[in-house]
Amino acid sequence: MQITTTAVTQHCGRRTGAQHFSQASTLNTTSGSHKSGVEPHSVPATTITRADGDLVTFMPPRPRRIVVGITGATGTIYAIRMLEIMRQLGIETHLIISKWALATLKYETNLTEAQIRGLAHATYTAKDLSAPIASGSFQHDGVVIVPCSMKTLAAVRIGFCDDLISRAADVSLKEGRKVLLVVRETPLSDIHLENMLALRRAGATIFPPVPAFYTQPKSLDEMVNQSVGRMLDSMGIFLDNFHRWNGFERSKKDKIPGGTPKEP
Ligand SMILES: Cc1cc2nc3c(=O)[nH]c(=O)nc-3n(C[C@H](O)[C@H](O)[C@H](O)COP(=O)(O)O)c2cc1C
Repeated sequence: MQITTTAVTQHCGRRTGAQHFSQASTLNTTSGSHKSGVEPHSVPATTITRADGDLVTFMPPRPRRIVVGITGATGTIYAIRMLEIMRQLGIETHLIISKWALATLKYETNLTEAQIRGLAHATYTAKDLSAPIASGSFQHDGVVIVPCSMKTLAAVRIGFCDDLISRAADVSLKEGRKVLLVVRETPLSDIHLENMLALRRAGATIFPPVPAFYTQPKSLDEMVNQSVGRMLDSMGIFLDNFHRWNGFERSKKDKIPGGTPKEP
């Protein structure tokens, strides 16, 4: 991963019962829309004095904050990469791991549950429906379920949210916040497809982690970086640690079926 170093110190706008962290954050970013480190709230805090003398602060500044749910579909590696990147960026992550994710991740990664939880700012069990992220009053910038099983997809679709992952997504939809579902199953049944369409219409982004081959990835690592980079694009977090399509390259013109690229 291409990395440059910028010191970042952050603090939360409110206490969540979890530890706060300061760290050196490292990343190259594109287009200038998101710089290394914590993006400050776009609206400055305003404090007014009420008639009774109490101070009231509107929109206290807070770091960018993303909820990440890992379910029992295959593809834990995407979640781990996303958590690593967001940690480097100084983005506050709130992590939920389902029971079946704990079972599948043992087959798919060398990291322990504790190591994965250690990548996040705050972590919860999927049973904990009293967690702050179960409420729409807890302010954050969206939910990513990565990977997202067909079971959790169905739960969110029908609003039957008896665990914290589906509840956090359900709440985000009702609050009009970003919900990114990295759905993983193949082939897809009518039921899966209908669930995806309904959730797309309800405002979610449906993101099957389908790799792009035009980048000619040399390794699984590159493929994962490309997919995770595109997932983060969907969340408004723009990185340059993966190959983006930039038009046909002249040096590759002989490989292009049916023609030569025109001069710009
Ligand atoms: C090794 C393994 C791989 C699995 N892969 C998938 C998958 O890719 N997609 C899926 O929908 N379910 C998959 N499952 C089944 C889910 O784990 C199962 O439906 C579970 O109930 C999902 O619950 P959760 O969404 O609460 O994690 C897999 C199960 C195992 C044991």
